[in-house]
Amino acid sequence: MTTQRRVQVAIIGGGPSGLLLGQLLHTIGVDAIVLERKTRDYVLSRIRAGVLEQGLVTLMEEAGTADRLHREGITHDGTVISYGNTQIAIPFTKHVAKPVTVYGQTELTRDLYDAREHTGATTLFNVTNVTLSDITDDSPYVECEANGVRHRIDCDFIAGCDGFHGVSRQHIPAACRQEFEKVYPFGWLGILSETPPVHDELIYANSDDGFALCSMRGAHLSRYYVQVAATESVDQWDDNAFWSALRRRIPEQFADTLVTGPSIEKSIAPLRSFVCEPMQWGKLFLCGDAAHIVPPTGAKGLNTAASDVRYLFDALKTHYVNRDSEALRNYSQTALARVWKVERFSHWMTSLLHRFPEQTDFDLKIQQAELSFLAENQSAQASLAINYVGLPY
Ligand code: APR
Ligand code: PHB
Repeated sequence: MTTQRRVQVAIIGGGPSGLLLGQLLHTIGVDAIVLERKTRDYVLSRIRAGVLEQGLVTLMEEAGTADRLHREGITHDGTVISYGNTQIAIPFTKHVAKPVTVYGQTELTRDLYDAREHTGATTLFNVTNVTLSDITDDSPYVECEANGVRHRIDCDFIAGCDGFHGVSRQHIPAACRQEFEKVYPFGWLGILSETPPVHDELIYANSDDGFALCSMRGAHLSRYYVQVAATESVDQWDDNAFWSALRRRIPEQFADTLVTGPSIEKSIAPLRSFVCEPMQWGKLFLCGDAAHIVPPTGAKGLNTAASDVRYLFDALKTHYVNRDSEALRNYSQTALARVWKVERFSHWMTSLLHRFPEQTDFDLKIQQAELSFLAENQSAQASLAINYVGLPY
């Protein structure tokens, strides 16, 4: 059996990018279908970063999905960078008039799914064999299977929001697509524990044993990470080993007061920088992880997905409301200009804070000097603050 329908925008991928775009389009009366490879429960079982730039908070407000985020999100006006026992407090608001909001990506995605269900908009889950056709013509269409039914969706535009492992990007002909990639020789082992956070700001720690991060989700829910070799697996790390590693990497003041407890989630994330150029091909527009990946140092993954959604939503709005397609034609160029600046910042912060297996004594001295300069220099702190809270769109 085949069903056939027409929408204005077909969105491939029901992660934060696809769902946010869908909600924003709904506010201007543009109908969109979301096609998701997994189930809603599966998508909501993934634990990801949790620091939101103001630009993303504004998008959630525009989408009408920011109520819980405003109630439960924690405003942060600064962060701490440490090396050994030295702490550098970076007060964002001294340098740039914007805070960040700590709110888990999983919760943000849940809010978007709830809102989407409320509007009655169609989401197809468990989709397989997704293909995109005629994307350089006026009448593109997407085909897929879901629960034994074949679907054909005719549309004006396709938003490829299907993450790094999605199919959309592959529809840009290889001869016209350039991919830039850097894979780091380590990962982040992260745990979630029902314990009070060790500090009221996030702590990014450089230590002789490697990087660590102290983050949080609430007054009694903490998120911690330690750098591990790319070859390590979660079963090599019981909770005790994790807590000992964390204690060794953060300043003594925090190691002494750290409250530990059983982990309720534990996983390893590899670190990668990746950009696909261009981010558009005919009627196909890539958003978020489908087009680029950053290492999590600085929490830019979700926020950069959000800036793509901002540019694409504004361009689609201008197209549908004002009949002006100029911004759509420039989407890739506009989005990539910001993407590369964020790639630079995430790579810089990763290089500043991690131990690299190939690092020489010279490299370590340079890293130390960079940290000392940051500790002493207001312009260096301002640069970090401006990038961390989010570059303008
Ligand atoms: N068809 C339909 N859906 C697909 C397909 C496909 N062929 N391939 C992947 N997907 C789905 C995935 O199951 C996932 O739910 O697309 C979604 C992509 O979501 P994310 O990977 O979360 O990417 P994105 O929405 O761009 O969000 C970016 O979220 O994943 C984090 O680190 C990422 O923080 C970043 C942000
Ligand atoms: C998180 O809370 O999970 C988090 C915070 C900051 C980062 C990365 C992850 O840079």
